[in-house]
Amino acid sequence: MHDFSLPPLPPSYDLQAALRTPRRWLVTGSAGFIGSHLLEHLLLAGHSVVSLDNFATGHRSNLDEVRSKVGEAAWARHRFIEGDIVDPQICQQACHGVDLVLHQAALGSVPRSLEDPLRTHAVNATGFLNMLVAARDAGCARFVFAASSSTYGDHPALPKVEANIGNPLSPYAVTKYLDELYASVFTRSYGMQTIGLRYFNVFGARQDPNGAYAAVIPNWASRISRGEPCIINGDGETTRDFCYIANVVQANMRAALVPAQGALHEIFNVAFGEQTTLNQLHGLLCENLQALIPNLKLLPPTYRDFRKGDVRHSLADIGKAQKLLGYAPARSVRQGLGEAMEWYVAPDVAHAA
Ligand SMILES: NC(=O)c1ccc[n+]([C@@H]2O[C@H](COP(=O)([O-])OP(=O)(O)OC[C@H]3O[C@@H](n4cnc5c(N)ncnc54)[C@H](O)[C@@H]3O)[C@@H](O)[C@H]2O)c1
Repeated sequence: MHDFSLPPLPPSYDLQAALRTPRRWLVTGSAGFIGSHLLEHLLLAGHSVVSLDNFATGHRSNLDEVRSKVGEAAWARHRFIEGDIVDPQICQQACHGVDLVLHQAALGSVPRSLEDPLRTHAVNATGFLNMLVAARDAGCARFVFAASSSTYGDHPALPKVEANIGNPLSPYAVTKYLDELYASVFTRSYGMQTIGLRYFNVFGARQDPNGAYAAVIPNWASRISRGEPCIINGDGETTRDFCYIANVVQANMRAALVPAQGALHEIFNVAFGEQTTLNQLHGLLCENLQALIPNLKLLPPTYRDFRKGDVRHSLADIGKAQKLLGYAPARSVRQGLGEAMEWYVAPDVAHAA
């Protein structure tokens, strides 16, 4: 399915030039972490955006923050629909008149999917299919969607190469792989232009630090800034390929606007392409937060057993995205943490609506 012999990008491909042509976009999951950054970027670039969210895990405060960042004139180019992608009519309403779809809405988190596989399936599989059908029927030019590194499952090889996946380890991973299969079938059967982006551990401002399913970086940043110890599952030598949000925004723009040749209908890893251990991550977070919070009391992490289902090491091969999308991640983990930390220590974050 994934062919590395595809032709590389034409040398004339210029993302900034492509972004200058005004288009109508749909961003689903816009009140969430990644969706809100896509919305902000598109509005700042002068585009019109319809966005959709049901606030299952996203926050109105994220939309408010985007509004204050882009200003009222840009915000007037945004139309928000509050609704659930499990409802096909909502998806049709959202896709109407749209050129490019960036589909982010989903229920994230492996543990959540293990606790409630039915709801994860309803949103991530049925909701995804509703969105594909709606985008097809509305004649949207391209459908770019959030896939996941969880699709690699138990495949032992490192770095992860798109073509080699293992058995899924959670209901969440099943739904994300199913999405890739549906997108591929819609391409073959209806000629739709689809591109899937397998995100690896994305982090940045507006990533929810609260709740049982919070991701490691916001969770730890919040704990450290309150003077609480972080909990590490295992010995801390587990690695992840953490990817700053700016790199993910870039990958989405490239996937949506790349000329219609080799990159279409493909799946791409979106990561920075470097491993960071959890112990290193803890050190980096302490360093960054200490610089921001005077007299911060730093505690050593508490170690407990490895968590069931967690993979030991994760590292992406980003060569395919570099070659076919022109993806060039501009921010390292260290740079990204430096940019994001101020948001985590802002006084209103802990009380986000
Ligand atoms: N953050 C990561 O590290 C990561 C890694 C791999 C894949 N992904 C994928 O990226 C996408 C965005 O993730 P995120 O980190 O921004 O998560 P998030 O929870 O912050 O955002 C998801 C958004 O989707 C919305 N949503 C959920 N169910 C919905 C429904 N039924 N109808 C409408 N909206 C709904 C939520 O309210 C939320 O605003 C998801 O598809 C996720 O699976 C994220």
